[in-house]
Amino acid sequence: MFSMTTSTSSLLGKQLSSSSSKHLTKEQPKRHDKINVKVAAMSNVSRNPNMAQLRAGYLFPEIARIRNAHLEKNPDAKIISLGIGDTTEPIPAPIVSGMANAALALGTVAGYEKTGGYGSEAGQQPLRDLIVKRFYSEKTKINASEIFVSDGSKCDISRMQQMFGPGRKVAVQDPAYPAYVDSSVINGHCTGYDEKTKRYENIVYMECVPGNDFFPNLEAAKDADIIFFCSPNNPTGAAATRAQCKELVDFANKNGQIVIYDAAYAFYIENPDCPKTIYEIEGSETCCIESCSFSKYAGFTGLRLGWTVVPEALKFADGSSVRFDWNRCMCTAFNGASNVAQGGGLAALSDEGWKSMQETVGFYKENAKMLKKTFEELGFKVYGAVDAPYVWVDFDGRDSWEVFTEILTKTDIVTTPGAGFGPTGDGFVRMSAFCHRDNLETAIERLKKEFAK
Ligand SMILES: Cc1ncc(COP(=O)(O)O)c(C=O)c1O
Repeated sequence: MFSMTTSTSSLLGKQLSSSSSKHLTKEQPKRHDKINVKVAAMSNVSRNPNMAQLRAGYLFPEIARIRNAHLEKNPDAKIISLGIGDTTEPIPAPIVSGMANAALALGTVAGYEKTGGYGSEAGQQPLRDLIVKRFYSEKTKINASEIFVSDGSKCDISRMQQMFGPGRKVAVQDPAYPAYVDSSVINGHCTGYDEKTKRYENIVYMECVPGNDFFPNLEAAKDADIIFFCSPNNPTGAAATRAQCKELVDFANKNGQIVIYDAAYAFYIENPDCPKTIYEIEGSETCCIESCSFSKYAGFTGLRLGWTVVPEALKFADGSSVRFDWNRCMCTAFNGASNVAQGGGLAALSDEGWKSMQETVGFYKENAKMLKKTFEELGFKVYGAVDAPYVWVDFDGRDSWEVFTEILTKTDIVTTPGAGFGPTGDGFVRMSAFCHRDNLETAIERLKKEFAK
């Protein structure tokens, strides 16, 4: 469909109805006639009102836009990114070999028969078995039929929203990974946006601040259907303790919510008092879905591999199986993770691969601790960095976009303003530990020079 001026639209209307483009009518303008046709490509489809409700760009494209503007003004700036949580270190060799072998196998008849083609939507059985062995068998009852391998956690979060359908009351930690709120808006859970509070209506924001040890007052979510809970949390880096997880599980079982427990950073936990999976907590199978990812363990952010656990014991209000619906959604919206990525996943869970993941995660954790120490020495209050690759720096209530801009302007370092993760994040800035060591050392020097209190 085209938008056009009236003078030409009637003309072209006749022309289009009475002839094909090959058989021009009398009214057809001559080659050199000036016609004023505005060919704005416009369909008859009205915009999804849920999309129209979304505020600003998604956080990271917005940061990229400001960074690019800074670079345009300062073309010689040597930008260092401690912003987006994207991994920087190469995928460890044993894991790359596993992928290379998986790719080569696809070039043989026997190999293609074994792992080629669409494969199972829920993932290759040996991978599902190994995920159970590595992450669940020691402390939980989760079995392989409850594991759904996927192309990553963010994709699963969106597909979960699809499974639950529109109009749900969703509760999120504030601050939190932006995908929970944005996918909630897109899927029609919110009824508007309050400019004053910077909150979407019908979404429950559960404040997580130093004063409550970054564990929210769950009562706020009493009427919610779905609770997104991320531990260790992005951006605060706070990992929930066993007692806090038990409180969450008991609350959800008592009030009938389903918790979507995001454990994308569980491998970073070193505090023995914090569980690495929610299924270590008694009662969690009847209220929790867990989402996990190889992204931050093995550098698979671009490769795409993750998994979601949906226990058989988890039921909807009518007694029907959530696992059954999840399987149905995955079979409809997804055709299985890339077989090469699954080859990488299998290798990552071998003894050699596991060790190499521990080393990579250890490297990022060391980065996080270096950053934490730097800011502490500069006189700031700093959170996170021990059980997560994120450092959450307290800037005494200052506007976090302003602090973000100041850091960028003074040091050419990209960070993430806390407000981008929710209104309670204002006053803080998130620094990511995903960085080459030499860049981090340079960043630390620049920060020490410019931000001594
Ligand atoms: C809390 C959290 N969950 C999920 C994801 C997305 O993981 P994936 O790469 O598997 O989509 C991220 C990525 O930054 C994250 O921070």
